[in-house]
Amino acid sequence: MIPLVRIVIEEDVKKAVEKVLDSGIFVLGEETKRFEEEFSRYIGVRYGVATSSGTTSLFLILKALNIGDGDEVLVPGYTFIASISPILHFGAKPVFVDIDPETYTLDIDDLRRKVGEKTKAVIPVHLFGHSVDMDPLLEVARKHGLYVIEDAAEAHGGEYKGKRLGSIGDVSFFSFYPSKNMSVYGDGGMVVTNDPDLAEKVRLLRHHGQVGRDEYRYLGYNMKMSEIHAAIGRVELKKLDKRNKVRRRLAGVYREELGETVDNPVEREWAYHVYHLYVIKARSRDKLYNYLLERDIGCAIHYRKPAYRHRILGVNTNLKLKGSEYAAEKSLSLPMSPYLEEEEISYIAGEIKKFYSA
Ligand SMILES: Cc1ncc(COP(=O)(O)O)c(C=O)c1O
Repeated sequence: MIPLVRIVIEEDVKKAVEKVLDSGIFVLGEETKRFEEEFSRYIGVRYGVATSSGTTSLFLILKALNIGDGDEVLVPGYTFIASISPILHFGAKPVFVDIDPETYTLDIDDLRRKVGEKTKAVIPVHLFGHSVDMDPLLEVARKHGLYVIEDAAEAHGGEYKGKRLGSIGDVSFFSFYPSKNMSVYGDGGMVVTNDPDLAEKVRLLRHHGQVGRDEYRYLGYNMKMSEIHAAIGRVELKKLDKRNKVRRRLAGVYREELGETVDNPVEREWAYHVYHLYVIKARSRDKLYNYLLERDIGCAIHYRKPAYRHRILGVNTNLKLKGSEYAAEKSLSLPMSPYLEEEEISYIAGEIKKFYSA
């Protein structure tokens, strides 16, 4: 079996966990503080606040920015539901913008069309590890006074014109879910920003808004990261660049071996793609998907539906955005992990070619 994502827990991770267990400090200790410093420095921003997940990070950001009733937030039509669901919890409305199906990221022309009187923020999602075209997006956002909240949950170490993703908008968030490019082997997230007031507010909201023993400045949450996860994050951060390079090398093998058989992922000249997933667009996608699964190749479909098609989001499910519809119909995620071997990639590519030549 070749899994979609192969995860290997190395010895230094186990040691870091043991150290925390021995210390007897499990939340808001030195590991969290250090992880926040080290991760935000890596991204190239001044502040980091470690949280319990990517999803809760977005809750904290929306709360801190007072986004709520009647506000509109621009989101891509094609993304994971967690880029959007927190918006609805605050009574705000997601407004769907189409994607460029080549890069799976926001179509800036459609973004311009969707800005309205009530628009308060935009959430560029660097899906699958490829950057959104941030310069024209920032231009639109500045013109209309919108907050830019980068969803970098799938893009640790990715870049736009040499800048790390997560360092470009007003505030950004990451996920450290087990399958991500960088993980804490459990749920975890980080909010990063250069704005000291916003960072402070998110930090307080994460822990009940507490400022003293019996004093609470905001009505907050419990959305902290545990010391165990922070300690793991510190170990994993050191390996991120090396692992992203392996992902890029493996992507090169896929690209070379698959050739024109399928549409391979695109990397724009301004992007440094970190291949959270290797997502191809394929003819007879569902048949290919079943064919590969039958051969123990752990592929997956991210995502079968554009985000606006989820009834649970309570939005207009009759909407049809061309790029998002196309991506949902054709996309197939192939195994990708720094622990895969080049031979495994060649084998997968060979099976795909066999499928089309049958
Ligand atoms: C694009 C995107 N946004 C948000 C999230 C939410 O992150 P988490 O699973 O850590 O809550 C994820 C990951 O699952 C994601 O892939």
